[in-house]
Amino acid sequence: MEKQGENSSRLVLVLYPFQGHINPMLQLGTIFHAKGYSITIIHPEFNSPDPSNHPLFTFISIPDKLLESNVSLSPADFMNLVSALNRNCEAPFKKCLTQILDHKHPHERISGVIYDGLMYFAQTVADALGLPGVCMRPTAAAMLLFSVIPQTEQESVFETQIPELQPLELKQMFKSMSTNPTEAMTEVRAAALNATKRSSGMISNTMEFLEHAALSMIREYSPAPVFTIGPFHKLAPSSSSSLLQEDAHCISWLDKQALKSVIYVSFGSMASLSKQDIVEIAWGLASSEQPFLWVIRPGLVHGSQGTELLPDGFQETVGERGFIVKWAPQQEVLAHEAVGGFWTHCGWNSTLESVSEGVPMLCSPCFGDQFLNMKYICYVWKIGLRLETELERGKIQGAIKTLMVNIQGEEIRNKAAEFKRKTQVCVTQGGSSWSSLDEFTKQILSV
Ligand code: UDX
Repeated sequence: MEKQGENSSRLVLVLYPFQGHINPMLQLGTIFHAKGYSITIIHPEFNSPDPSNHPLFTFISIPDKLLESNVSLSPADFMNLVSALNRNCEAPFKKCLTQILDHKHPHERISGVIYDGLMYFAQTVADALGLPGVCMRPTAAAMLLFSVIPQTEQESVFETQIPELQPLELKQMFKSMSTNPTEAMTEVRAAALNATKRSSGMISNTMEFLEHAALSMIREYSPAPVFTIGPFHKLAPSSSSSLLQEDAHCISWLDKQALKSVIYVSFGSMASLSKQDIVEIAWGLASSEQPFLWVIRPGLVHGSQGTELLPDGFQETVGERGFIVKWAPQQEVLAHEAVGGFWTHCGWNSTLESVSEGVPMLCSPCFGDQFLNMKYICYVWKIGLRLETELERGKIQGAIKTLMVNIQGEEIRNKAAEFKRKTQVCVTQGGSSWSSLDEFTKQILSV
């Protein structure tokens, strides 16, 4: 049965089918459902979310033909995958949206199509059907600078000496992105930029105080208004959208640990490590003498379950002090009072989830935007420490101690706690994210 909200306005949300994108989009759905909108989620068949976790939404899957397109799912082949999804999904999406419009209740209206920035075909379809298209960006807003500033101007714009942006090294990022771009890269960037320009607005999962300078620059260049309504998960409590089974046993284990004593270790849903990294992490955690909760997801080390790579004698050495899971209820973990540090790959969702709970971070970025997020954490906000790319047990042990116990880490810990308070202000009535959401519904959805 079709699920309807109170105000008979419907929003269509278009998912990019990876964990770090599914979570924020479904959280956004929850926010708008709480505002009275009916929510339809349209998603490719690949990595389908479980509708039973979101009984108030309507889910429709569209054929993605990914198998026939012969693309790999590795981060290295990311642009080919995005290009294939956009090529393959446009026609079925148009058909699906047309059917929704034809069969909708006479009193219902479709207020807009909100799509992940990587599913830019949705803007083309929204334009063709006369609906407002809104681009949702699940990364730091600073990444948008590469979409809204014309390519020819980026190098000189990024020369500017804005103190808050200086540590992000945007010029170096621009240079590495423009050296030997593949055909798919050029195509995806141009199409995404084009869609952004035609969109009625952009929603960024960030907060004004976190990215003030980047947001001012984006607003100078973007014809579409930018709404900062993050962290989404703090504006409306959302049910889990994990593709892997969450292991809740770790929460009872956390309940037994001392206040702020646990280091939580997770490298997100896509990053990969070497066998030697696992050994160094294991001994680094063991010698830190802190309790730890470590997520070793299947595939973290390519082609392996991961846990079989743990070194001999490790389990005996750490005993009850360590807890290993395949996948954790991460938001709940970070909000737990026993957690005092997060060793992360700096995915944007993980970053925001840690910021909003005041948990200081140890940073091991692996690819893409994670390096920019790390620079924000360590050098702009100063709520974390960077670990060198080459993982080594002695350095790991030292960094954990600094982050969580030693006097040298005190400023970082205090600053992280301050960020939690600032986040709470943003998401309560009158705060910047709360007001931006209000503004978005008035300006874009009520047209
Ligand atoms: C990817 C990119 O790596 C990232 O840089 C980009 O910003 C978004 O897409 P991912 O690797 O999935 O993201 O990391 P992240 O953005 O941190 O998202 C992971 C999500 O999975 C988070 O919402 C986190 O709470 C959740 N998670 C992770 C769990 O629920 N349990 C876990 O055990 C680990």
